[in-house]
Amino acid sequence: MKKFYVTTPIYYINDIPHIGHTCTTVAADILARLHRQLNEEVFFLTGTDEHGQKVAECAEKEGIDTKNYCDKIAPTFINAWKSLEISNDFFIRTTDPRHEKVVGELLQKIYDKGDVYKAKYEGLYCVGCEKFLTESDLEDGHCPLHPPEKTVQKSEENWFFKLSKYAEQLIDLIENDNYIFPEGKRKEVLAKLKAGLNDISLSRENVSWGIPLPWDKKQTVYVWFDALINYYSATQFLENKEGFWPADLHLLGKEILWFHTVIWQAMLLSAEIELPKKTYTHSFYMIDGQKMSKSLGNAISPQQLVDLFGVDGARYLIARSFPSENDSDVGIERFKEKYNADLANNLGNLLSRVCKLGEGLIVEEVKFEIDKKYIEQIDNLKFDEAIGWVFENYVDKSNNRLNEVTPWKLEADDAKRIEVLTECAQNLRRAAAYLQAVMPGTSEKILKQLDGKIRSLAGGLFPRI
Ligand code: MSP
Repeated sequence: MKKFYVTTPIYYINDIPHIGHTCTTVAADILARLHRQLNEEVFFLTGTDEHGQKVAECAEKEGIDTKNYCDKIAPTFINAWKSLEISNDFFIRTTDPRHEKVVGELLQKIYDKGDVYKAKYEGLYCVGCEKFLTESDLEDGHCPLHPPEKTVQKSEENWFFKLSKYAEQLIDLIENDNYIFPEGKRKEVLAKLKAGLNDISLSRENVSWGIPLPWDKKQTVYVWFDALINYYSATQFLENKEGFWPADLHLLGKEILWFHTVIWQAMLLSAEIELPKKTYTHSFYMIDGQKMSKSLGNAISPQQLVDLFGVDGARYLIARSFPSENDSDVGIERFKEKYNADLANNLGNLLSRVCKLGEGLIVEEVKFEIDKKYIEQIDNLKFDEAIGWVFENYVDKSNNRLNEVTPWKLEADDAKRIEVLTECAQNLRRAAAYLQAVMPGTSEKILKQLDGKIRSLAGGLFPRI
């Protein structure tokens, strides 16, 4: 059986999920479900990033023990994904001792390779990003993604990783055996690599909330080194998952591109572990021209969408507005319009017309295979195009046919009426097969209505809002 291993970033535990996090999780879920539908053996991993200064500071502010704080917040992510019917096979938490053990082992390999040295770090650090900042990261002297007070001056003794040692090898890999998608991001990373690479700190002296370094227990592993290893560690400590490394696909947002396409690969090269096959970096959800984020106070929560549009409505809207190559402007009003137009008035209305007019008609099963181009588009995160094609081809066409033929004006046994209704029912079955990964519940409902014969429909599929 072909294997498919897909991951999402692990989310910082200081935040509760908004639809920026959700879009990556839904995207991974669509890919996982489609690959299962194609009879592949899938491993879909998501989780939470629980160490580091930012999480420790949050817990302190709330006046509770850091681990208790994590135990309190992790379920908000687990439950958010449950309420969206996310089909992850495992939920990893970086405070899991099994993960911590693999982190220690991997770092030890890097140490044994001779790829670390102790030096003084002096410069700016963004606690929001958990990142050491360079000149080019700054806007008005601070990190543009977080409030200015999150950018702090640091001066500490750290262990450094010889990232620069791997520059040539990475350039070569990206040029010849590319793993960075989409193309724009590949170019961006290549240009930055060619401009020169500095070594990077891999430990922290004054952050106790982290995994102790195996060779210097007074220091903790820099949270990003710890977090990136989750993709690999899960395949090591979970039973029967070893065969899934290297990952087929890491999904991530654009502000964490460098970590996932340079630092992670260099760590793996140093530890002599195979590299992930592909990374896909998406853009941001924006609200009124600003990045959606908790700190800006403009976040839409996944629960808000589920309450308004139902699980499948929420999944559908996220998929269609997914910020693949460009940022995507979203808002509740826009979501409502899209929901009404596509789901209530189009797909839902088609099913209800077919069930009402065609009740009792036999629908023979027509064998068909999922179109290669559709699979390719989903694999390349082009959800809007892929789903748009399904709608055009099967849903819009059928509604138009009904409007043309007007079967409601024909006698029940009229051949033309029977023909158009069975044709529409078959198109709906195909649409349901295509949309299974996007709207699993809806797809099942449609198929149930049309299984063998057309059944009368109690209520609607998507009530109008
Ligand atoms: N903990 C790190 C990731 C470690 S992975 C080894 C992290 N966490 S995060 O919670 O801040 O962000 C997780 C993901 O959510 C990132 O991919 C980020 O791009 C995504 N999003 C956060 N806000 C977003 C939008 N407004 N729009 C789309 N995605 C965005 O970074």
